[in-house]
Amino acid sequence: MTSVPGLKIGPGDDAGVFCLDSGTCLVETVDIITPVVDDPIVFGKIAATNALSDIYSMGAVPKTALVILGFDPCESSKEEVQAILAGVVEVLGSAGVALTGGHTLEDRELKVGLAVTGVADEEKILTSSGASAGQVLVLTKPLGTGVLSTALKGGKLSMEDLQEAIKWMTTLNDRASKAALEANSSACTDVTGFGLLGHAYNMLRGSALELVIETAHVPFMKGVIELASSGIIPEGAYRNYEFIKDRVRFSRMVKEIIRLLLCDPQTSGGLLVATHPDSLGIFDRHRVNYHVIGHFRKGQGTITVV
Ligand code: CO
Ligand code: CO
Repeated sequence: MTSVPGLKIGPGDDAGVFCLDSGTCLVETVDIITPVVDDPIVFGKIAATNALSDIYSMGAVPKTALVILGFDPCESSKEEVQAILAGVVEVLGSAGVALTGGHTLEDRELKVGLAVTGVADEEKILTSSGASAGQVLVLTKPLGTGVLSTALKGGKLSMEDLQEAIKWMTTLNDRASKAALEANSSACTDVTGFGLLGHAYNMLRGSALELVIETAHVPFMKGVIELASSGIIPEGAYRNYEFIKDRVRFSRMVKEIIRLLLCDPQTSGGLLVATHPDSLGIFDRHRVNYHVIGHFRKGQGTITVV
């Protein structure tokens, strides 16, 4: 493939980056999800928050979005479709993002996606890689949306029990992104389908670093460990675990359930930020709910979980 002048980051990071002559860069991503909850407005909100996340994880500011919605006209009413779009519009409005268009199509399975464009200065892009020894790893949302939505689908959970997960899935990563930039963080990504360990591993690719994760400091949403212990673990967590397990050294103290939970696929998860421990105060100032879950030291591109 011939490279087009201006292309700074192609496929492989959270979003692509294309820089214009002015030094301003376009940051672009697309994300499509199927329902995680029954409420159409909430589903729309989650889909939009989730799609914006890849822009924030690059340190960029989202500006415009296109929405795509696939639905079965025999299954979904016009009201349901309108409610989903209303949820999308609400989140875009709160993020200051202009909806510039979209497309609907007939599809057997309901799905909503957004293609989002943001802007950033060429010098201030936050890529997944770029962490250095001595930095800490910060996580800005607790884990467990995969387990909780699986429990909901299996009738093991009420919408009431899901409120905490809904709150997190509709929380924008905007403040976390701003704090990461202000703290001169050197790497950032968001936790989504590959789970914490999958996305943390992405941060190490090609590096001479070891990442040490301390499970005692990893936050989980309420009820998640209990549900997982009773066998409610999404298929995706097992797949992620199979993929990552040879690249991770687990301490014998780390239980099987916790190992799997570290691989729980997240919808609209938090940011993972590599930053200097002295700059954590900036995250407090931006009122980011963050947890220091590990640190980077010299190594060979592996993760150690203790
Ligand atoms: Co991402
Ligand atoms: Co994505």
